[in-house]
Parts: sequence; structure tokens; C-alpha cells
Amino acid sequence: MSEAKVLTPVQTPETGGRQTPQPCAMVIFGASGDLTERKLVPALYYLSRAKLLPDGFSVIGCAKTQYNNDSFRAKMQEGVKKYLNVSSSDNPILDAFTRDIHYIADDFGDPAAYGQLKDLLDKLDRERGTGGNRLFYLATPPSFFPIIVNHLGAVGLAQPKELGKNWTHIVIEKPFGRDLDSARELNRIVTSVFKEDQIYRIDHYLGKETVQNLLVFRFGNGIFEPFWNRRYIDHVQITVAEEIGVENRGAYYEEAGLVRDMIQNHVLSLLSLIAMEPPAIFNATAVRDEKSKVMRAVRPIDLDHLAEAAVRGQYVEGWCNGERMPAYRSEPKVSPQSTTETFAALKLYIDNWRWADVPFYVRSGKRLPKRVSEINIRFRPAPHLLFKGTSTTEIRGNHLSIHIQPNEGMSLRFNAKIPATTMQIRPVTMEFRYEDAFGHAVPTTAYETLLLDCMVGDSMLFTRADFVDLAWELITPLLDRWQEDGRKGMSFYEAGTWGPPEADAFIDRDGRKWQEL
Ligand code: BG6
Repeated sequence: MSEAKVLTPVQTPETGGRQTPQPCAMVIFGASGDLTERKLVPALYYLSRAKLLPDGFSVIGCAKTQYNNDSFRAKMQEGVKKYLNVSSSDNPILDAFTRDIHYIADDFGDPAAYGQLKDLLDKLDRERGTGGNRLFYLATPPSFFPIIVNHLGAVGLAQPKELGKNWTHIVIEKPFGRDLDSARELNRIVTSVFKEDQIYRIDHYLGKETVQNLLVFRFGNGIFEPFWNRRYIDHVQITVAEEIGVENRGAYYEEAGLVRDMIQNHVLSLLSLIAMEPPAIFNATAVRDEKSKVMRAVRPIDLDHLAEAAVRGQYVEGWCNGERMPAYRSEPKVSPQSTTETFAALKLYIDNWRWADVPFYVRSGKRLPKRVSEINIRFRPAPHLLFKGTSTTEIRGNHLSIHIQPNEGMSLRFNAKIPATTMQIRPVTMEFRYEDAFGHAVPTTAYETLLLDCMVGDSMLFTRADFVDLAWELITPLLDRWQEDGRKGMSFYEAGTWGPPEADAFIDRDGRKWQEL
């Protein structure tokens, strides 16, 4: 079964003008969970090894599980070894890194634990020179977000220790709310304790190299913009597929489902970057303004013709890589009658001059045949078939595939003459692979960039409140409708297949096909 990406830490310190963060302490709430072990601590280790963390940088893990500093450090070391390619010669670096990790057992509701946290942060300021700079990271189940935020406010940890001299930032994991009302309520609570410029709503897809490169590809090159519109583009497909099931996250997933977990955030972020107008300048406000404008233009999903707009599915038993996989309903902490979707496909339209009537087909699912995220831009065919009377009967439109992960890169398919004395045409592909162009694969998990960004106060790759709100405005009516419908309209697919047959029929109906991946 495919695991989180295995990384090779950089061999030499990274350069390139990145601003080094000021010394600071990072507090991770939910430190015994999957995200901390799998992504956050490996990302921090990667940064530490690349010498990108500030002097004195320290981590405090907070969670319910009863660890002490030593047992928590040991668990974090295990995680780093499991998720990164760490050789034995790295052990001293890993030891030094984990020495600066501390642990506080806390059920998130006990004011005394926040007092203890405050004392430890003050101690780190004195002993490690963290200077009163604090980064709080909420990696707990979403229901704890308001509780933690309120406690941080009550104990006086929400504001910089000395205004103007140091900073306090808070990172909030997704999903930010579970529908429009709860997202607005959470936003109200968070903004009553923290100011907007202290808040970093994270969507780790925005930190992926290939996703950041979408902006450079579109706006750092002069030749693509003229055909990036309805005149030349027939439709766009966005696929975010995973081979893994829900693993040990059944309880969370039952509450969330695929659309809340992947589409409301990651997939809509990709869509906004593909569809946005060029910002006037490259800063957080300008880029986020343009992303929000796209979301504002997405046509509401037509619930009166739901089958044409959306498909939902759930996996049943099947085979993945020669292994028999259980049905979603047999996964731990999942109801045997669950109607939670593990697959969804939507057809979205963006009602503006650039994209009017161009469908954006998006799909995402768990237990699909492989882990692959890809954006396909399908261009219209040549307007006039010139090569009639030759053995070529059909000339297909060009398409650009943006490989977000794995095999990061892009490929452009166009038609070429087969070398021969006859006129025969077939599609060929021009490729850009990170590995070939830069001599190594994309090295990071996305969290590295994002963690540094929120330490230096750069919010460009984080989601602003208005985007979250607009995304929920789009998605909530659909989720409400599915909730009302229960089992009605739910399709099933065997684990290890590309979703329910209805997902193929969904796009076939428009005379199109999903990209083979
Ligand atoms: C997370 C979802 O946000 O993204 C997970 O909660 C999912 O369910 C993960 O597995 C996928 O991230 P990546 O970076 O592995 O594609």
C-alpha cells in the first residue's frame, strides 16, 4: 500500500533568498495524531537538516495521550525515520533536532494545561532565545478548534508578548468548519481572539511545488495566456486520486466525507489557480483577491438536475495491488450503514468572460487504482480538418497535462506526421519532468514551505476567510441535499477501480472521457 511520500532530505543547505524566520517556538495541538507524525515533524526535520529553521527553534507537542518528553521524542524520531529516507549517518542530526521537542499532556479543555504551556513558552524564551515569537498549530479534530482558540485567548497567549516586538501566529488545519454556518461561526470565534493577519488557514496543496508552479507557468510565460480561455479550451479536468482508504481515520471521515475532506479545499484551490486572472502584483492580497473572484463566479450547483452535476460513490470490497481491501463500511469506526461518500465527481462552470460554458470536471476518491493528482487542459480541435482524403480520419485536440504528483511535471500532446511516404498523423507528447530539468525530484511535502511562510508572516499560500466562505457557499447545498437523500443516489465502486460506473457515464454523456491516468 502506498505510504506518504518518502523524501530524500536535501544534501546541501538551500539558498535562494528565503527570509530566515526569527527564533520562535511552535506549539502543535494534536501532536499525537497522524498529521504530526506523518507530515509536520518530518517537514520540520527536513527544514532543520537544510538549516532553514531559526536558532533556538523549539517545538511543544500537546495532546491527550500520556507521553513524557522522552517517549514523545522517541515517537517523533520513529515517524521521521518512517516517512523520510534517513540514513544512519543522520542520527546525530535527528537526535539534536528532537532534543528541542517537548510535550504537554492536555485534553485541550483544562485551563491548567494552558498555564503550563505559557510557563514553558516563557522558559524557552529565556533559555533558547525564542524571543516571545509563537506559532500555534491546530492539528486536532476540528471540534477542538474553538476550545483551543478560546483558551489561548483567556490565558493571554493570543497576542504577541510585547506588541510590536514579537509575533504570534496561528495555523488552522482544514476542514475549516463543516458547512457554511459552522465555518462562519468558527471564523467569528477565531477572529474574536486573533486578528486576521495572525491567522493562517492551511491547505497544504497550495504549498506543493507543482501547485505553486501553476502561477509561474501561467504568468511567468508570455505564450500561454492568449489561449487560456473559452475560445481555445474545450474543458478542464482535475483529478485528485488516492490509493489509500480511510486508514485509522474512520471517525473523522464519517463526519467529513470526500467532498469536505478534498474538494471544498484542495480541489477548489487547484481550480482557482487554473482559472484566475493575472494578479496586478505578486503579493498575498492580490493573488488571494483573484482566487476569490473565481470562487465568486462559480455557478451554483443545479440541484434540480443533480445527476448531471454531481456523482457520489462509496467503495466496496475490491483488490488494490494484489491485496484484498475491505469495503468502506467495514473500516474501523465506520457505520455498517454509512452513506458517507468516498468518491465524488462534479461538473462546475465559471460564469465569467474567460470561462463561460467551459466545463470543469473534477473528481477525487479514496481506494482508486493509484495516487495521482493531475490537471488536464483539453483544447478544442483544429477548426478545419485539412488532411481529408488521407488515412487520417480524426485529428484530436491538443491537451496539456499538469502532473501535480507523482512524476511531477507537465506534458503537452499534439499531433505529428508519422515519418513515412504517406500522410498519417498521430499524437505525440512533449514532456517536462522536474527530475530531468532540475536533476532531482520535487523534494518536499509542501508543509516545509508553508511552515516557513507562516513563521515569516507570508500568507500568500494560505486561504483567506472569504475564499473559505465562498467554497462552503458552493458546496453546502450539495452536501445538505446528499444528507437528505441518504442512500438514494449513492453509487458504489470496487476498491481499486476508478470510481462508480456512473462517474464515466457522467462525462460520457457530454461526449467526453476522463483522462486515463
Ligand atoms: C488531506 C486529507 O488533506 O490530504 C487526506 O485529509 C488526504 O484524506 C491528504 O489523504 C492527501 O494529501 P497528499 O498530499 O498526500 O495528496
